[in-house]
Amino acid sequence: MAASAPAHQTTMKAIVRERYGPPDVLELRDVEIPTIDDDSILVRVRAAAVNAYDWHMMRGRPSLVRVVAGLRKPKSSAMGVDVAGQVEAVGKNVTQFRPGDEVFGSRSGSLAEYVRGTSQSFLVPKPARLTFEQAAAVPMAGTTALQGLRDKGQIRPGQKVLINGASGGVGTFAVQIAKAFGAHVTAVCSTRNVEQARSLGADEVFDYTKEDFTRGGRTLDMGWRRSSLVSSRRRWCHGSGSRKCRSFWRRTAKRI
Ligand SMILES: NC(=O)c1ccc[n+]([C@@H]2O[C@H](COP(=O)([O-])OP(=O)(O)OC[C@H]3O[C@@H](n4cnc5c(N)ncnc54)[C@H](OP(=O)(O)O)[C@@H]3O)[C@@H](O)[C@H]2O)c1
Repeated sequence: MAASAPAHQTTMKAIVRERYGPPDVLELRDVEIPTIDDDSILVRVRAAAVNAYDWHMMRGRPSLVRVVAGLRKPKSSAMGVDVAGQVEAVGKNVTQFRPGDEVFGSRSGSLAEYVRGTSQSFLVPKPARLTFEQAAAVPMAGTTALQGLRDKGQIRPGQKVLINGASGGVGTFAVQIAKAFGAHVTAVCSTRNVEQARSLGADEVFDYTKEDFTRGGRTLDMGWRRSSLVSSRRRWCHGSGSRKCRSFWRRTAKRI
């Protein structure tokens, strides 16, 4: 299989940024098409999606992101992560993919005509029933919701789960995943998204502009905060109906 970029083209269009800042720092530029080695694949981007992550990477805020992305300026000018596309070329050691395969996943620099992946990269075959646009919307937000509920939260059927921010990128996946695991789901969002939350399967929906879900003595097995990645056990609340659980949510609700 060809282990190089398309012969007729050496440059591609890409959204890049050389410094941190507001959306004005983004530029559409001609850049080199990524080259691939024997273990890599080249994917022609058919759709890409943006997440809160991309916003943080563009702004360089919170400052902690600069520890990874570059202190004074970004180490890489590439933007975007979520992607769906078609394999254009594969290295000679790659056996999982062939040119023409439809894939989706997370690759740095997805806001471009082509991205490079490796055989170990976060790219998987795209289900035929999903459009490229639908597939590109899934990876980061969907994985975040899945990891939080299944891996961190160890969700079980019958649990009462609250998804705060149920109409957002992560929350819309979280509602559906929690329902698929057999949980009783309480969703929190604003008025305009109440019907959407119901249509995604939420059993109860709180409109945070009209009512405070922390009042009313409800008990929960697990909760999802809207304001941060759930990476710490402290942000989860286990133990059905415990006093600790209720007070956790009262305190959390004040902070979000
Ligand atoms: N997207 C990702 O891939 C990803 C990955 C890792 C971590 N995160 C983090 O997860 C968090 C959510 O990200 P997201 O992409 O899902 O954000 P988003 O799409 O902007 O969604 C924000 C959600 O919060 C709700 N909300 C706003 N104000 C609220 C309030 N006062 N009370 C209750 N809910 C309120 C919004 O509801 P309405 O729209 O109905 O007002 C919406 O459902 C962010 O902190 C982000 O950094 C996101």
